[in-house]
Amino acid sequence: MEGPFFVRNVAPAVDINMRRARGKPMRVSGVVHGGVDGMTPLAGVKVEIWHCDSDGNYHPNGNGDVGRYHPAEINLRGSTKTDAQGRFAFDSIVPGHYGARRRHIHWRFEASGHLAVTTQTYWLKDKGSLRAGADFVDRNPESCRWLAFADGPRGVEEALFTVQLIKA
Ligand SMILES: [Fe+2]
Repeated sequence: MEGPFFVRNVAPAVDINMRRARGKPMRVSGVVHGGVDGMTPLAGVKVEIWHCDSDGNYHPNGNGDVGRYHPAEINLRGSTKTDAQGRFAFDSIVPGHYGARRRHIHWRFEASGHLAVTTQTYWLKDKGSLRAGADFVDRNPESCRWLAFADGPRGVEEALFTVQLIKA
């Protein structure tokens, strides 16, 4: 589900911590497949990402079109297009959590000839925790949505998200 904090038409960005909010650096990258066989790397897929800051607040803490907000209110959101190999990557900070939700990242994928997907990913290392188990918003995420974040070089927390889009 999209949830209450999706802002439409945010500017392209791959470093989405434009306002330099404090937090642990994070890089989440991925690859998008599709086509008739479901395994063809898809170029030019629009990938949108949004998540909260380390205190659990969104910027803005709202939704609607980006034009409703002052540019200084926009942070930890961005969009990009996959390259010729279907790859994408975003640099940001590790989000905190809020309410009864487990730590998460929101995503939207849109490719011509394919069904658009709105989804969320989680931290595999949070799986089995009380918080993860109590998240009734998304009770049983598929295994592909638990990302194996781990510390990479220079203390950046990194994970790979593999996505398969279905032909429309
Ligand atoms: Fe959220």
